[in-house]
Amino acid sequence: MTTTLDSPASTFIIAQDYQSYTTEQHAIWAELVGRVLPEIEQHAAREYLDGFGIIGLQRDRLPDLAAVSARLAPRTGWRSTPVSGFLPAPAFFEMLATRRFPTTTWLRSRDAMEYTPEPDIFHDVFGHVPMHAHPVFADFLEHYGRVCSAITSPVLLEKLGRLFWYTVEFGVIRQDNAIKVYGSGLISSHGECLNVIGGHCAIRDFSLDEVLATPVKVDELHKLLFAVRSFDQIYEAMHAAEKRALAGQL
Ligand SMILES: [Fe+2]
Repeated sequence: MTTTLDSPASTFIIAQDYQSYTTEQHAIWAELVGRVLPEIEQHAAREYLDGFGIIGLQRDRLPDLAAVSARLAPRTGWRSTPVSGFLPAPAFFEMLATRRFPTTTWLRSRDAMEYTPEPDIFHDVFGHVPMHAHPVFADFLEHYGRVCSAITSPVLLEKLGRLFWYTVEFGVIRQDNAIKVYGSGLISSHGECLNVIGGHCAIRDFSLDEVLATPVKVDELHKLLFAVRSFDQIYEAMHAAEKRALAGQL
């Protein structure tokens, strides 16, 4: 799939005006990273931490998306592509299917350090992009985009949205006899991460059936999440979900 001028995604892609970030914005980025990094270094999946180094994230400077993509693309073909804001589903899926992660360029202000209703560059880059350096996760995410691009039923898309939510956004993995976080909503939120590593959230073994049957709640800390044993599991789950969707059994 390639993007043409009139494709759903093309109208949302912008240039990141890196020079326009202020000293104060770089300082807010540094503070956001500083608040979560100690717990992330201890509790994030090793694949996330490897990715953090691979894409060259800096602790005290906002990321230059072109530089991030230049390090990421040779590894997995993924890019961190700047977009103007929230994308409607067809544009979002088209970008995933072509290994371009739609990345916002705005940064939260100091009075919203813990939470923003819409994702900002901290959530998108610090939270998401390191995992795109992992080959299996990279393949899974592209496949997710391709499958969803071909689906128009809101009911089916809502079901598949649960798979995205409980992996890409709020995924956890069993590693080194512990629960480690890899979902961007856990990585980029001090409160969400503490909720999980502090034992306030039940963790069950990942099962596609259970994930598809568990509605998403966006307005409260999670009470239940699903742990994979390896990223092969989400790759295989996506193929199983595709088969079910094609058979009308999702
Ligand atoms: Fe996200």
